[in-house]
Amino acid sequence: MNKTVKYIKSKIDTTNIEYAIVLGSGLAFFTDSLSDKETINTSDIPNFPISTVRGHSGSIVVGKFNGKKIMVLSGRVHLYEGYTYEEVIFPVDIISELGISKLILTNAAGCINEKFHPGDLVMITIGKDPLEKLNNGIEDVYETSNNLNDQIKNAAENISLTLKKGSYGFMTGPTFETPSEIRLLKKLGIDLVGMSTVPEITKSIENNIQVSAISLVTNFAAGISDKKLTHQDVFDTAKLAQNSLVGLLQEVVGS
Ligand code: HPA
Repeated sequence: MNKTVKYIKSKIDTTNIEYAIVLGSGLAFFTDSLSDKETINTSDIPNFPISTVRGHSGSIVVGKFNGKKIMVLSGRVHLYEGYTYEEVIFPVDIISELGISKLILTNAAGCINEKFHPGDLVMITIGKDPLEKLNNGIEDVYETSNNLNDQIKNAAENISLTLKKGSYGFMTGPTFETPSEIRLLKKLGIDLVGMSTVPEITKSIENNIQVSAISLVTNFAAGISDKKLTHQDVFDTAKLAQNSLVGLLQEVVGS
């Protein structure tokens, strides 16, 4: 950790960063809109886990949007790549170590609940305490929203963007789910499914980072539609909906 932080600090000015943003599959284009950019390839950073997945180009970019300084991390690693939990949440520890207090996670997800469709943006319901969900039910967890969630909801309203809210089920992969796994998740009241984000949310809460997560729905989950699921479809839909997500992120960090 010390070696990693020392290297990052030697390459980029990490003072006064207001937000860290983790970009999911195919979403790295967001950094195009930043000015005064400083970039490090994650492959050059000591001890930093490197993504092996297409669409996850690994970099840390620090730049400004509307005068606000932000750090964008693309190329997150997943358990299905063979990384350990500690490696998956390592970037969150780095964010803490750099003193960044707000983190926005993004991901690509499949939808289980018929309320959602490919192309939708959905804010993930997050509780502060895992037991909260058992005690209060998924719907109520969202009501414990933090300021960052409120800020993102307001930003969506400002640009007239429909931001839905939903629960997210974390599956370890590496394969997409089977239709019967999706039926089970549906019974549990889960709206979306993906293979990331929950470890980072858990670690952020533990580290007292204000965290929010937004899913871009890229496909119907297995068995929800007749169409066969492919990584290419996930990638293509992410591309189609990327402008809405970029617009939302810009409104959040820039205002
Ligand atoms: N399942 C798991 N992960 C995903 C999916 C899915 O349907 N879509 C995008 N990431």
